[in-house]
Amino acid sequence: MFISFEGIDGSGKSTQLTMLREWFESRGSGVTVIREPGATLLSESIREILLSTKQSITPTAELLLFSAARTQLVEKVIEPALESGSIILCDRYVDSTTAYQGYGRGLDLTAVQAINSIATRGVMPGLTFFIDVRYEQAQQRMQFSEGGGEPDRMERAGREFFNRVRDGYLAISQQDVKRFVVIDGYRDRASIHFDIISEVERRLHTVSS
Ligand SMILES: Nc1ncnc2c1ncn2[C@@H]1O[C@H](COP(=O)(O)OP(=O)(O)O)[C@@H](O)[C@H]1O
Ligand SMILES: [Mg+2]
Repeated sequence: MFISFEGIDGSGKSTQLTMLREWFESRGSGVTVIREPGATLLSESIREILLSTKQSITPTAELLLFSAARTQLVEKVIEPALESGSIILCDRYVDSTTAYQGYGRGLDLTAVQAINSIATRGVMPGLTFFIDVRYEQAQQRMQFSEGGGEPDRMERAGREFFNRVRDGYLAISQQDVKRFVVIDGYRDRASIHFDIISEVERRLHTVSS
């Protein structure tokens, strides 16, 4: 089972991913947790380049760098984990590229789609949780979070950009309603977690029956 979490920074992805990981582990399931970009040496190196504020990166270079990091991750980590029967929880995946580089940066969506299918090698999550909060709420949460610190290059993009990203997420969720579950991210952590495990249980039940 391959599950991804999507949403703008500060929406609560990592919080919910950790809660879901603990839920799976308490049931004795093997879980592989991945953050994007990252999880391989190459992908972590590319992550540093992408998030660094030292240099500017054109939207197309950004698209290709995220995609290079992703394809290394797919081949080296996700495919082997799927083969071993592990549950994979991914903190961002290909929908981030559609939302951020496509809708956010304004790159041609057909071109983004083509690059995405090369990068993923056709490996897609069966279930994607889009945790939806507005930019203002996400910003407020990040100000109070411990690991906060200075905003990275992506986080500096500003309100207009994140509004387009959110609209993008809403659009792609509607295009693939079987895979996407849109979560109202304004509620408390426990209520969101409850909805997430209900959906996961429903899917597990459907798969095994
Ligand atoms: N449902 C929630 N209600 C209020 N605050 C939350 C909620 N979920 C997460 N947070 C807090 O918001 C901040 C950002 O959450 P995080 O999970 O790191 O978001 P993301 O991974 O999407 O950037 C953290 O300080 C976290 O504790
Ligand atoms: Mg996070």
